[in-house]
Amino acid sequence: MRNHATNTTFKASWKYSEAPESTDHIQIKKQYDLYIDGNFVKPVKGKYVDTINPSNDKKIAGVAEASAEDVDLAVKAARRAFKSWSNLSGRERGKYVFRIARLIQERAREFAVIESLDGGKPIRESRDIDIPLAANHFFYYAGWADKLAYAFPNRHPKPIGVAGQIIPWNFPLLMAAWKIAPALATGNTVVLKPAETTPLTALKLAEVIQQCGLPKGVVNIITGAGETGASIVNHPDVDKIAFTGSTEVGKYIQKATAGTHKKLTLELGGKGANIIFEDAAIDQAVEGIINAIFFNQGHVCCAGSRLFVQESAADLVIRKLKDRIDTLIIGDPLDKNTDIGAINSKKQLETIQNYIAIGLKEGAEIYQPKCTLPKTGNWCAPTLFLNVSQSHRIVQEEIFGPVLVIQTFRTIDEVIEKANNTPYGLSAGVWTQKGSKIFHLTQNLNAGVVWANTFNKFDPTSPFGGYKESGYGREGGLHGLKPYVKFD
Ligand code: NAI
Ligand code: MG
Repeated sequence: MRNHATNTTFKASWKYSEAPESTDHIQIKKQYDLYIDGNFVKPVKGKYVDTINPSNDKKIAGVAEASAEDVDLAVKAARRAFKSWSNLSGRERGKYVFRIARLIQERAREFAVIESLDGGKPIRESRDIDIPLAANHFFYYAGWADKLAYAFPNRHPKPIGVAGQIIPWNFPLLMAAWKIAPALATGNTVVLKPAETTPLTALKLAEVIQQCGLPKGVVNIITGAGETGASIVNHPDVDKIAFTGSTEVGKYIQKATAGTHKKLTLELGGKGANIIFEDAAIDQAVEGIINAIFFNQGHVCCAGSRLFVQESAADLVIRKLKDRIDTLIIGDPLDKNTDIGAINSKKQLETIQNYIAIGLKEGAEIYQPKCTLPKTGNWCAPTLFLNVSQSHRIVQEEIFGPVLVIQTFRTIDEVIEKANNTPYGLSAGVWTQKGSKIFHLTQNLNAGVVWANTFNKFDPTSPFGGYKESGYGREGGLHGLKPYVKFD
């Protein structure tokens, strides 16, 4: 280990000039109405709420708040549209879904900038990950629309009806795509509600949907907060609820739909284990740790937020990790150099800061790089916690921010036991050069996704979803069609 004894000091020698993405090509209205039955309509009660840019606290636009009456109008429009949409041939439906994908691609730059403005994520991520993946989801499910008989051979799949879809603020356009694409491909109609802090790309998507001539009422996009979401969940004429968000709200929705005819899928929180064995390619693993926890400021349900390093490699990995986080660039989400953007909302920043305080109070050792955070907006330095144990709250609970808790292990059995000691079961990562270890862990970790020698890789063809309190149902891939069909 001698050759690793000196620290890597790359920080001082690299200085980046600012590289801001331009915003002159985007169009944002001052005020947005609700997209119901193919038109933008004013909310019945006339109420609008501001959406804020979390990197500077400035208002971007006013956005309608849908009341129960508006939800009812949207559900009625979706019900009216269902008959002809579900009777359209799969081939015709597929053409519309394909058109949505193409238009997202055409306007990708505009979508990317708006996503970063409204939600605070680095432009590099919205440009290279969120928006292309959203388009890919529509492309992928466009391909299934006329092949459902092959997806479910001899089972005669039929659409369910009106789907109520409620999405979070961490991947706004991507989550809209995950929800809308399989619903349309299978012949359902949709009422979708984006999160209150990040409604703008869903509203842009409404413009794209209008532009592509989708029959009116097939997709309705309404904005508002928890109360609007609850009105969708409780509407008697909604046949299916698809929810992504907090475990707390997921449990509420589960209770609200119990005993009704409504089908339900839940994609909730996580506390993913990222496991580094001593035989792993250490430099790659360190990059993987960074990507696992600092991607999208850690606002990722499948984030690798619990790191387990084999004891014999721990000193080396932790030292390299500290060196690496010293180099992360925190700041303007629209700067192409930025690694960590703004925390999505004041409320989420308070949650994260509260967990950091709890970690310190519980006696954990903290490491943060010496970086200066911008004065306005919501910011949190990347944070490591060492000397933690399984019983620490910061080890057990989802923080949903750039905060990593680090533990060590000696044997495989020990790390499996520790990794599975969580109420969640969404994701995990394994870093080793041995294929046999990878197979052993993937079979024994209770997680919906296990990445091997990588992390946070997404693909429309592969199913995603959780165990235990991370929810149920799968999105993506052939599996993602299933929650939207019923059988004779
Ligand atoms: P949240 O679960 O309240 O929000 C998610 C969506 O649900 C939003 O569209 C919201 O308007 C809607 N909603 C809220 N209350 C509802 C209700 N009673 N009925 C129907 N819809 C409702 O999440 P929040 O409060 O923004 O974040 C809290 C925590 O949740 C985070 O700190 C994080 O730990 C977790 N979270 C997990 C996400 C994931 O992807 N698994 C996404 C967002 C948050
Ligand atoms: Mg916003």
